[in-house]
Amino acid sequence: MNYGTSVLGLGMYVPPRVWANADFERILNTSDEWIRSRTGVEERRFVEEEVCTSDIAAQASLEALKNAHVHPEEIDLVIVATATPDYLFPSTACMVQQKIQASRAAAFDISAGCSGFIYALCTAQQYLASGLYQKVLVVGAETLSKFIDMEDRNTCVLLGDGAGAMVLGRNDATNQFLSFVLGADGSGGIHLELPAGGSKRPASTDTVAGRQHYLKMNGREVFKWAVEKMVWASRQALAKAELPIEEVNWLIPHQANLRIIDGIRERLSFPQEKVLVSLPKYGNTSAASIPLTLAEGITAGKVRDGDLLLLVGFGAGFTWGASLIRWHALGAQQ
Ligand code: UT7
Repeated sequence: MNYGTSVLGLGMYVPPRVWANADFERILNTSDEWIRSRTGVEERRFVEEEVCTSDIAAQASLEALKNAHVHPEEIDLVIVATATPDYLFPSTACMVQQKIQASRAAAFDISAGCSGFIYALCTAQQYLASGLYQKVLVVGAETLSKFIDMEDRNTCVLLGDGAGAMVLGRNDATNQFLSFVLGADGSGGIHLELPAGGSKRPASTDTVAGRQHYLKMNGREVFKWAVEKMVWASRQALAKAELPIEEVNWLIPHQANLRIIDGIRERLSFPQEKVLVSLPKYGNTSAASIPLTLAEGITAGKVRDGDLLLLVGFGAGFTWGASLIRWHALGAQQ
Protein backbone atom coordinates (compact mmCIF):
# COMPACT_ATOMS: atom_id res chain seq x y z
CA MET A 1 0.00 0.00 0.00
CA ASN A 2 1.00 3.62 -0.57
CA TYR A 3 0.84 5.97 2.42
CA GLY A 4 0.01 9.67 2.18
CA THR A 5 2.75 12.26 2.65
CA SER A 6 2.45 15.74 4.06
CA VAL A 7 4.69 18.67 4.88
CA LEU A 8 4.96 19.10 8.65
CA GLY A 9 7.22 22.12 8.82
CA LEU A 10 9.48 24.42 6.84
CA GLY A 11 12.55 26.42 7.83
CA MET A 12 15.13 28.64 6.18
CA TYR A 13 18.41 30.28 7.08
CA VAL A 14 20.54 32.87 5.33
CA PRO A 15 23.81 34.16 6.76
CA PRO A 16 23.74 37.77 8.00
CA ARG A 17 26.58 39.11 5.80
CA VAL A 18 25.07 41.02 2.83
CA TRP A 19 27.05 41.50 -0.40
CA ALA A 20 25.47 44.18 -2.58
CA ASN A 21 26.19 44.58 -6.30
CA ALA A 22 28.16 47.70 -5.38
CA ASP A 23 30.59 45.49 -3.42
CA PHE A 24 31.52 43.78 -6.72
CA GLU A 25 31.97 47.16 -8.42
CA ARG A 26 34.89 47.74 -6.04
CA ILE A 27 36.78 44.55 -7.05
CA LEU A 28 35.67 43.75 -10.62
CA ASN A 29 34.98 45.36 -13.97
CA THR A 30 31.21 45.19 -13.52
CA SER A 31 28.32 47.42 -12.53
CA ASP A 32 25.17 47.32 -10.43
CA GLU A 33 23.28 48.24 -13.59
CA TRP A 34 24.66 45.23 -15.57
CA ILE A 35 23.99 42.75 -12.78
CA ARG A 36 20.43 43.98 -12.14
CA SER A 37 19.41 44.20 -15.79
CA ARG A 38 21.04 40.92 -16.96
CA THR A 39 20.20 38.78 -13.90
CA GLY A 40 17.78 40.53 -11.51
CA VAL A 41 20.14 40.06 -8.54
CA GLU A 42 20.51 43.07 -6.22
CA GLU A 43 22.32 41.51 -3.28
CA ARG A 44 23.22 38.09 -1.87
CA ARG A 45 24.36 36.62 1.45
CA PHE A 46 27.84 35.17 2.03
CA VAL A 47 28.87 33.07 5.04
CA GLU A 48 31.87 33.99 7.16
CA GLU A 49 35.07 32.03 6.50
CA GLU A 50 34.61 29.59 9.40
CA VAL A 51 31.02 28.65 8.45
CA CYS A 52 30.37 25.58 6.28
CA THR A 53 27.32 24.11 4.51
CA SER A 54 26.26 21.79 7.35
CA ASP A 55 26.22 24.77 9.76
CA ILE A 56 23.60 26.66 7.77
CA ALA A 57 21.77 23.43 6.86
CA ALA A 58 21.47 22.66 10.58
CA GLN A 59 20.07 26.14 11.31
CA ALA A 60 17.35 25.77 8.67
CA SER A 61 16.63 22.21 9.88
CA LEU A 62 16.19 23.29 13.50
CA GLU A 63 13.72 25.95 12.40
CA ALA A 64 11.78 23.42 10.27
CA LEU A 65 11.66 20.98 13.21
CA LYS A 66 10.46 23.72 15.54
CA ASN A 67 7.70 24.76 13.11
CA ALA A 68 6.70 21.11 12.68
CA HIS A 69 6.67 20.46 16.44
CA VAL A 70 8.87 17.45 15.72
CA HIS A 71 11.76 16.40 18.00
CA PRO A 72 15.04 15.60 16.17
CA GLU A 73 14.92 12.06 17.57
CA GLU A 74 11.68 11.41 15.69
CA ILE A 75 13.47 11.86 12.34
CA ASP A 76 14.16 8.57 10.49
CA LEU A 77 16.19 9.97 7.61
CA VAL A 78 18.11 13.17 6.78
CA ILE A 79 18.64 13.97 3.08
CA VAL A 80 20.81 16.96 2.15
CA ALA A 81 20.82 18.25 -1.43
CA THR A 82 24.01 20.24 -2.03
CA ALA A 83 26.63 21.01 -4.66
CA THR A 84 28.90 22.54 -2.01
CA PRO A 85 29.35 19.79 0.61
CA ASP A 86 31.55 20.14 3.69
CA TYR A 87 33.75 17.30 2.35
CA LEU A 88 33.77 14.82 -0.56
CA PHE A 89 33.09 12.41 2.30
CA PRO A 90 31.66 12.04 4.91
CA SER A 91 28.34 13.36 3.64
CA THR A 92 27.00 16.74 4.71
CA ALA A 93 23.81 14.93 5.79
CA CYS A 94 25.87 13.05 8.42
CA MET A 95 27.25 16.36 9.71
CA VAL A 96 23.71 17.76 9.93
CA GLN A 97 22.43 14.59 11.62
CA GLN A 98 25.07 15.03 14.31
CA LYS A 99 24.57 18.82 14.68
CA ILE A 100 20.81 18.60 15.18
CA GLN A 101 21.12 15.38 17.21
CA ALA A 102 18.82 13.31 15.04
CA SER A 103 20.36 10.26 16.67
CA ARG A 104 17.96 7.70 15.17
CA ALA A 105 18.26 8.94 11.60
CA ALA A 106 20.00 7.51 8.55
CA ALA A 107 21.64 10.20 6.42
CA PHE A 108 22.87 10.77 2.87
CA ASP A 109 23.49 13.54 0.33
CA ILE A 110 22.01 14.07 -3.10
CA SER A 111 24.12 15.66 -5.83
CA ALA A 112 21.84 17.12 -8.50
CA GLY A 113 22.99 20.75 -8.61
CA CYS A 114 20.23 23.34 -8.50
CA SER A 115 17.57 20.62 -9.03
CA GLY A 116 18.79 18.92 -5.86
CA PHE A 117 15.89 19.95 -3.64
CA ILE A 118 13.28 18.49 -6.02
CA TYR A 119 15.32 15.27 -6.34
CA ALA A 120 15.59 15.08 -2.52
CA LEU A 121 11.90 15.80 -2.02
CA CYS A 122 10.93 13.06 -4.46
CA THR A 123 13.31 10.61 -2.77
CA ALA A 124 11.96 11.45 0.70
CA GLN A 125 8.38 11.06 -0.50
CA GLN A 126 9.12 7.53 -1.79
CA TYR A 127 10.50 6.43 1.61
CA LEU A 128 7.33 7.72 3.29
CA ALA A 129 4.85 6.43 0.71
CA SER A 130 6.38 2.94 0.84
CA GLY A 131 5.91 2.87 4.60
CA LEU A 132 9.61 2.38 5.38
CA TYR A 133 9.87 5.64 7.32
CA GLN A 134 7.54 7.99 9.21
CA LYS A 135 9.43 11.29 9.26
CA VAL A 136 12.11 12.55 6.87
CA LEU A 137 14.06 15.82 6.94
CA VAL A 138 14.91 17.24 3.51
CA VAL A 139 17.44 20.08 3.23
CA GLY A 140 18.77 22.17 0.34
CA ALA A 141 21.88 24.05 1.47
CA GLU A 142 24.78 25.78 -0.25
CA THR A 143 27.85 27.83 0.57
CA LEU A 144 28.59 28.75 -3.04
CA SER A 145 30.77 31.65 -1.88
CA LYS A 146 33.45 29.05 -1.05
CA PHE A 147 33.58 27.82 -4.66
CA ILE A 148 33.20 30.99 -6.73
CA ASP A 149 36.12 32.66 -8.43
CA MET A 150 35.96 36.28 -7.28
CA GLU A 151 38.01 37.18 -10.40
CA ASP A 152 35.41 35.68 -12.79
CA ARG A 153 32.66 38.25 -13.38
CA ASN A 154 30.69 35.72 -15.48
CA THR A 155 29.85 33.64 -12.41
CA CYS A 156 30.65 35.30 -9.08
CA VAL A 157 27.94 37.96 -9.29
CA LEU A 158 25.18 35.36 -9.70
CA LEU A 159 25.49 33.15 -6.64
CA GLY A 160 24.74 33.29 -2.92
CA ASP A 161 24.64 31.18 0.25
CA GLY A 162 21.57 29.90 2.08
CA ALA A 163 19.60 26.90 3.28
CA GLY A 164 15.98 25.69 3.31
CA ALA A 165 14.58 22.62 5.08
CA MET A 166 11.31 20.68 5.15
CA VAL A 167 10.07 18.02 7.55
CA LEU A 168 7.86 15.47 5.77
CA GLY A 169 5.61 12.99 7.53
CA ARG A 170 3.67 9.85 6.61
CA ASN A 171 -0.08 9.75 7.18
CA ASP A 172 -3.02 7.52 6.32
CA ALA A 173 -5.32 10.14 4.88
CA THR A 174 -3.93 12.70 2.46
CA ASN A 175 -1.12 13.04 -0.01
CA GLN A 176 0.03 16.60 -0.65
CA PHE A 177 2.44 15.54 -3.43
CA LEU A 178 0.38 15.23 -6.60
CA SER A 179 3.22 14.54 -9.05
CA PHE A 180 6.98 14.42 -9.53
CA VAL A 181 9.06 14.65 -12.71
CA LEU A 182 12.84 14.17 -12.72
CA GLY A 183 15.24 14.23 -15.67
CA ALA A 184 18.94 14.37 -16.56
CA ASP A 185 21.27 14.68 -19.56
CA GLY A 186 24.97 14.21 -18.77
CA SER A 187 25.99 15.60 -22.16
CA GLY A 188 25.37 19.05 -20.67
CA GLY A 189 27.73 18.42 -17.76
CA ILE A 190 30.63 20.32 -19.32
CA HIS A 191 28.64 23.58 -19.33
CA LEU A 192 28.46 23.89 -15.53
CA GLU A 193 31.14 22.19 -13.49
CA LEU A 194 33.74 22.34 -10.77
CA PRO A 195 36.58 20.81 -12.79
CA ALA A 196 39.11 19.62 -10.17
CA GLY A 197 39.24 18.00 -6.76
CA GLY A 198 37.46 14.79 -7.79
CA SER A 199 38.89 11.50 -9.08
CA LYS A 200 39.17 12.77 -12.65
CA ARG A 201 41.44 15.69 -11.74
CA PRO A 202 42.65 15.30 -8.16
CA ALA A 203 43.98 18.39 -6.41
CA SER A 204 47.53 19.30 -7.43
CA THR A 205 49.61 22.45 -7.53
CA ASP A 206 48.65 22.72 -11.24
CA THR A 207 44.89 22.53 -10.56
CA VAL A 208 45.20 25.15 -7.85
CA ALA A 209 47.34 27.44 -10.03
CA GLY A 210 44.82 26.98 -12.88
CA ARG A 211 41.92 28.03 -10.61
CA GLN A 212 40.29 24.66 -11.36
CA HIS A 213 38.71 24.37 -7.90
CA TYR A 214 36.23 27.09 -8.73
CA LEU A 215 32.88 26.77 -10.47
CA LYS A 216 32.97 27.27 -14.28
CA MET A 217 29.93 28.00 -16.39
CA ASN A 218 28.98 28.55 -20.01
CA GLY A 219 26.14 30.93 -19.12
CA ARG A 220 24.48 31.18 -22.52
CA GLU A 221 24.26 27.41 -22.96
CA VAL A 222 22.92 26.91 -19.40
CA PHE A 223 20.34 29.65 -19.99
CA LYS A 224 18.94 27.93 -23.11
CA TRP A 225 18.70 24.49 -21.50
CA ALA A 226 17.25 25.91 -18.27
CA VAL A 227 14.28 27.54 -20.01
CA GLU A 228 13.56 24.56 -22.26
CA LYS A 229 13.78 21.88 -19.56
CA MET A 230 11.91 23.80 -16.84
CA VAL A 231 9.03 24.43 -19.28
CA TRP A 232 9.01 20.72 -20.23
CA ALA A 233 9.17 19.52 -16.61
CA SER A 234 6.36 21.90 -15.59
CA ARG A 235 4.11 20.62 -18.38
CA GLN A 236 4.90 16.99 -17.48
CA ALA A 237 4.14 17.53 -13.79
CA LEU A 238 0.77 19.07 -14.70
CA ALA A 239 -0.03 16.28 -17.18
CA LYS A 240 0.81 13.56 -14.63
CA ALA A 241 -1.54 15.14 -12.09
CA GLU A 242 -4.13 15.77 -14.84
CA LEU A 243 -4.42 19.41 -13.83
CA PRO A 244 -4.46 22.51 -16.07
CA ILE A 245 -1.93 25.29 -15.43
CA GLU A 246 -4.83 27.68 -14.72
CA GLU A 247 -5.31 25.88 -11.38
CA VAL A 248 -1.77 26.62 -10.19
CA ASN A 249 -1.77 29.36 -7.53
CA TRP A 250 2.00 29.77 -7.27
CA LEU A 251 4.89 28.91 -9.58
CA ILE A 252 8.08 28.51 -7.54
CA PRO A 253 10.94 28.19 -10.03
CA HIS A 254 14.64 27.77 -9.30
CA GLN A 255 16.03 31.29 -8.83
CA ALA A 256 18.88 31.56 -11.35
CA ASN A 257 18.02 34.63 -13.39
CA LEU A 258 14.87 36.77 -13.70
CA ARG A 259 15.17 36.51 -17.48
CA ILE A 260 15.08 32.69 -17.21
CA ILE A 261 12.03 32.89 -14.91
CA ASP A 262 10.32 35.26 -17.39
CA GLY A 263 11.16 32.90 -20.25
CA ILE A 264 9.48 29.98 -18.47
CA ARG A 265 6.48 32.05 -17.46
CA GLU A 266 5.93 33.40 -20.97
CA ARG A 267 6.15 29.97 -22.59
CA LEU A 268 3.68 28.59 -20.05
CA SER A 269 1.42 31.69 -20.46
CA PHE A 270 1.49 32.06 -16.68
CA PRO A 271 0.79 35.41 -14.94
CA GLN A 272 3.75 37.24 -13.42
CA GLU A 273 1.89 38.05 -10.19
CA LYS A 274 1.64 34.34 -9.40
CA VAL A 275 5.38 33.68 -9.51
CA LEU A 276 7.31 33.67 -6.23
CA VAL A 277 10.72 35.34 -6.51
CA SER A 278 13.49 35.76 -3.94
CA LEU A 279 16.39 36.16 -6.39
CA PRO A 280 16.89 39.95 -5.95
CA LYS A 281 17.71 39.46 -2.24
CA TYR A 282 19.59 36.16 -2.25
CA GLY A 283 20.94 35.54 -5.78
CA ASN A 284 21.13 31.96 -7.04
CA THR A 285 21.44 29.71 -3.98
CA SER A 286 21.29 26.50 -6.06
CA ALA A 287 19.64 23.64 -4.12
CA ALA A 288 18.44 26.08 -1.44
CA SER A 289 16.62 28.44 -3.81
CA ILE A 290 13.24 26.65 -4.03
CA PRO A 291 12.71 25.97 -0.29
CA LEU A 292 13.99 29.50 0.55
CA THR A 293 11.53 31.05 -1.86
CA LEU A 294 8.64 28.91 -0.60
CA ALA A 295 9.47 29.71 3.04
CA GLU A 296 9.44 33.43 2.24
CA GLY A 297 6.13 33.07 0.40
CA ILE A 298 4.58 31.45 3.46
CA THR A 299 6.00 34.00 5.90
CA ALA A 300 4.70 36.81 3.69
CA GLY A 301 1.21 35.25 3.86
CA LYS A 302 1.10 34.71 0.08
CA VAL A 303 0.90 30.90 0.08
CA ARG A 304 -2.38 29.82 1.68
CA ASP A 305 -4.11 26.63 2.69
CA GLY A 306 -5.36 24.66 -0.32
CA ASP A 307 -3.08 26.47 -2.84
CA LEU A 308 -1.67 24.44 -5.70
CA LEU A 309 2.10 24.94 -5.98
CA LEU A 310 4.28 24.13 -8.98
CA LEU A 311 7.95 23.75 -8.02
CA VAL A 312 10.45 23.49 -10.88
CA GLY A 313 14.25 23.39 -10.99
CA PHE A 314 17.22 22.98 -13.34
CA GLY A 315 20.91 22.62 -12.63
CA ALA A 316 24.34 21.04 -13.07
CA GLY A 317 24.39 17.61 -14.64
CA PHE A 318 22.29 18.74 -16.43
CA THR A 319 19.37 17.81 -14.19
CA TRP A 320 15.82 19.08 -13.95
CA GLY A 321 12.71 18.32 -11.95
CA ALA A 322 9.22 19.52 -11.05
CA SER A 323 6.58 18.77 -8.45
CA LEU A 324 2.95 19.73 -7.94
CA ILE A 325 1.99 20.14 -4.29
CA ARG A 326 -1.40 20.83 -2.74
CA TRP A 327 -0.39 23.07 0.14
CA HIS A 328 -1.99 22.70 3.57
CA ALA A 329 -1.28 24.55 6.80
CA LEU A 330 1.85 22.92 8.12
CA GLY A 331 0.74 19.46 9.29
CA ALA A 332 1.56 19.29 12.98
CA GLN A 333 0.30 22.83 13.64
CA GLN A 334 -3.23 22.03 12.52
O1 UT7 B 1 21.33 27.70 -11.60
C1 UT7 B 1 21.68 27.13 -12.82
C2 UT7 B 1 22.97 27.67 -13.20
N1 UT7 B 1 23.08 29.00 -13.70
C3 UT7 B 1 22.22 29.64 -14.51
O2 UT7 B 1 21.12 29.23 -14.75
C4 UT7 B 1 22.71 30.88 -15.19
C5 UT7 B 1 22.33 30.87 -16.64
N2 UT7 B 1 22.92 31.96 -17.43
C6 UT7 B 1 22.66 33.26 -17.20
O3 UT7 B 1 21.93 33.61 -16.29
C7 UT7 B 1 23.24 34.29 -18.14
O4 UT7 B 1 23.75 33.63 -19.27
C8 UT7 B 1 24.36 35.16 -17.49
C9 UT7 B 1 23.75 36.10 -16.48
C10 UT7 B 1 25.40 34.26 -16.85
C11 UT7 B 1 25.04 36.00 -18.55
O5 UT7 B 1 24.08 36.82 -19.22
P1 UT7 B 1 24.10 36.90 -20.81
O6 UT7 B 1 23.07 37.87 -21.21
O7 UT7 B 1 23.99 35.49 -21.34
O8 UT7 B 1 25.49 37.53 -21.08
P2 UT7 B 1 26.69 36.96 -21.96
O9 UT7 B 1 27.31 35.78 -21.31
O10 UT7 B 1 26.20 36.78 -23.36
O11 UT7 B 1 27.68 38.17 -21.89
C12 UT7 B 1 27.35 39.43 -22.46
C13 UT7 B 1 28.48 40.40 -22.13
C14 UT7 B 1 29.86 39.82 -22.39
O12 UT7 B 1 30.67 40.83 -22.93
P3 UT7 B 1 31.04 40.82 -24.48
O13 UT7 B 1 31.74 39.53 -24.72
O14 UT7 B 1 29.72 40.92 -25.20
O15 UT7 B 1 31.91 42.03 -24.62
C15 UT7 B 1 30.35 39.47 -21.02
O16 UT7 B 1 31.75 39.49 -20.91
O17 UT7 B 1 28.43 40.74 -20.74
C16 UT7 B 1 29.74 40.57 -20.18
N3 UT7 B 1 29.60 40.24 -18.78
C17 UT7 B 1 29.58 41.16 -17.82
N4 UT7 B 1 29.65 42.49 -17.84
C18 UT7 B 1 29.59 43.16 -16.68
C19 UT7 B 1 29.50 39.01 -18.21
N5 UT7 B 1 29.40 39.13 -16.88
C20 UT7 B 1 29.46 40.45 -16.60
C21 UT7 B 1 29.41 41.20 -15.41
N6 UT7 B 1 29.48 42.55 -15.50
N7 UT7 B 1 29.29 40.63 -14.20
